[in-house]
Amino acid sequence: MPTVATFPSIRTEIGGVAVTELAKQYGTPTYVYDAAKIIERLNDLRAFDAIRYAQKANSNLTVVDLVRQHGAVVDSVSAGEIHRAFAAGFKPGGEPPAIVYTADIFDKDSLDLVVKHDIHVNCGSPNMIDQLGEVAPGRNITLRINPGFGHGHSQKTNTGGDQSKHGIWHEQLDDCLRRVDRHGVCVSGLHMHIGSGTDLEHLAQVCGSMEQAALEVGRTITSISAGGGLPIAYKEDESFIDIEQYFGLWDTTRKKLEEEFGHKISLEIEPGRYIAAESGYLIAEIRAVKTMGDNKFYVVDAGFNNLARPIMYGSYHPISIAPSSGELDRPMHDVVVGGPLCESGDIFTQEEGGFVAKRSLPVANLGDYLVIECAGAYGFVMSSNYNSKPMAAEVLVKDGAAHLVRERQSYEDLLRGESIPK
Ligand code: LLP
Repeated sequence: MPTVATFPSIRTEIGGVAVTELAKQYGTPTYVYDAAKIIERLNDLRAFDAIRYAQKANSNLTVVDLVRQHGAVVDSVSAGEIHRAFAAGFKPGGEPPAIVYTADIFDKDSLDLVVKHDIHVNCGSPNMIDQLGEVAPGRNITLRINPGFGHGHSQKTNTGGDQSKHGIWHEQLDDCLRRVDRHGVCVSGLHMHIGSGTDLEHLAQVCGSMEQAALEVGRTITSISAGGGLPIAYKEDESFIDIEQYFGLWDTTRKKLEEEFGHKISLEIEPGRYIAAESGYLIAEIRAVKTMGDNKFYVVDAGFNNLARPIMYGSYHPISIAPSSGELDRPMHDVVVGGPLCESGDIFTQEEGGFVAKRSLPVANLGDYLVIECAGAYGFVMSSNYNSKPMAAEVLVKDGAAHLVRERQSYEDLLRGESIPK
């Protein structure tokens, strides 16, 4: 793998299939996922005993099935994600457990499901220990510990520290162990996830806290999870994360615990973004090119209903142009890229706080395609029907062939379930 990321300003193909062909066949906006990139990223992580895919990043059945076929297990954060795991071929049970439910609460559906199918639970609140223990005593559980600090690419994705609702506060472990004893459940695993899109230094800080918590729980521990949070390079020249170094730090922690406890400890990692982000491209069509004072705008047919990360976090996504015809060698100029929604914040080139930024992109014409890259994680899954826009189609490209893996929503889909009282 090269050490820094590079992104093209003109993109003609994805996984060997022409962008123009994809756009013509499936329409726009459409998400396209390159299976080879997902497999490559899974392969980067093979040193860990288990790769637990955080399906919240991209829960399309085909993606979940693909990671299953390539040896990953799965994390589910809701009853809906448990149903998706089943539909993608995961069966409950196994070692490591094929499906883990990780959350800070049980709603009725999720509690019923984990009890009925004996799904392993990663408890993020002391109350969950009681609620599960009362109906399913004797189970093995994992505790998700909030180590008292965290870090994310945005404050909204920082999941550690006292501003976060996530996990069991590290100082309440003793109280939790008493609850565990009361219900006859057994803490077989510990988990820490301090945030999403964080850096190596912050991620590595967790190892010491994990060691301390594991020693407090004792010899029942047979697995530890480093959580997710691995960053990817979204910008030109950004460095790729050093996985070997990251694994090395965790492996040292694991080995110390193995020595202390005298048995094998399995080491899990739980990434979503790292596996799915770079595989995904959102293809849109340029429908207007206009000038507002000093700003030139490309207005495309995808909006924050399709990709919410820029408006939610000021996230930067690489953008390229796929010319529908004509010259590929285009001069560059500074433009703002916006979507079709009736809201000024519908801008893909914005910074945190909503400040509109310009991007140097090739000169493009109406009918050319604009490709928003690194959009495979937290893209489609965070989309909405705002402005009554049907959700985009999703396509998987594998071995040079394209497969429709989710139909574009129809206008009937949009109205499904609504009624006007008589
Ligand atoms: N494990 C747990 C317990 C999590 O809460 C998350 C993410 C992950 C794993 C996966 O994190 P990852 O490896 O993908 O960073 N919508 C935001 C990200 C929210 C992440 C929520 N939890 C975004 O678009 O950046």
